[in-house]
Amino acid sequence: EMGKNQEGPLTYKVPDEHVFKGVKLHDGMLHEGSEEADIYDNLELTVDDCIVASYPKSGTTWTQEIVWLLHHGADTDKAKETTLTERFSFIEMIQQIRKVPEMLPPKLIKTHVPYSSLPRNYLNNSTTRPKVVYIARNPKDTAVSYFHFYRANRAYGLYKGSWSDFFEMFINEYTVYGCWFKHVVSWHNFAKMEPNILFLKYEDMKKKPTEQIHKIATFLGKDIDKEEVLKLTEHTKFESMKSNKAVNYSSSERIDASVSPFMRKGQIGDWKNYFTVAQNERFMMMYEEKLKGTDLTFEFE
Ligand code: A3P
Repeated sequence: EMGKNQEGPLTYKVPDEHVFKGVKLHDGMLHEGSEEADIYDNLELTVDDCIVASYPKSGTTWTQEIVWLLHHGADTDKAKETTLTERFSFIEMIQQIRKVPEMLPPKLIKTHVPYSSLPRNYLNNSTTRPKVVYIARNPKDTAVSYFHFYRANRAYGLYKGSWSDFFEMFINEYTVYGCWFKHVVSWHNFAKMEPNILFLKYEDMKKKPTEQIHKIATFLGKDIDKEEVLKLTEHTKFESMKSNKAVNYSSSERIDASVSPFMRKGQIGDWKNYFTVAQNERFMMMYEEKLKGTDLTFEFE
């Protein structure tokens, strides 16, 4: 188990029994052939529901809060009443997938799975697909954020390795949810073909939040006036979210905030404080190679 890793190897490979539809998951998440896997595959969603998808640590929580508010008349007071965990269903989690059939519409879903591992019902029904808002973040900042999340999250075993240990895990696809490149490239390709998928970038959200919120609203078909967009911009900026108990995971039993709070830095370019020159060279070679032939680009500062 991940939690039993404190003194042992500082690289940790997800065991085979935690692989679901080809995706590396952790304890408490779906298993092949289980009742919950069946609920997952047969998930009935409508065009009025919405999925927020991402590779972990890419700005999922931020996007979720925006999407929820756009579905609920920009009511920021109401948003503060319940945690995001209760307002969305994280469908790879055994406990959460069970609730989905009874959720009231609009059903708001969070997932980190790669496109091809989505519920069978989504993949098979091309006419009734819900909208999907996918968020991607430059992989160097994603890796650093993930490193801290591994350290602070009990489900990820309160990882004790160093940054260089984690760096090797990340580029060798050992981490939960596996290869960043495959995840993002595949979602990006499908987003180009499917009008129900909106592909966003963390760096754009950070640099032009108002514009991006407007873009999400338009995509979701939600009327929102200028004043409301500004209100949402203010409500979802990093400092506001960091101090907002409904979104900052401060009440989560899984996360040990004394190791690293969920709302950690919220910046572009923190990777520079971690990557050595050699790591950066290795990483950028891989980045060039894996993104070759795609029109996908990321800003690193
Ligand atoms: P850092 O660890 O770099 O601070 P996810 O929600 O996908 O797990 O992503 C978490 C990352 O997004 C964390 O990154 C977190 O601080 C950052 N984040 C969360 N809300 C944010 C916001 N409103 N603005 C900017 N970054 C945010």
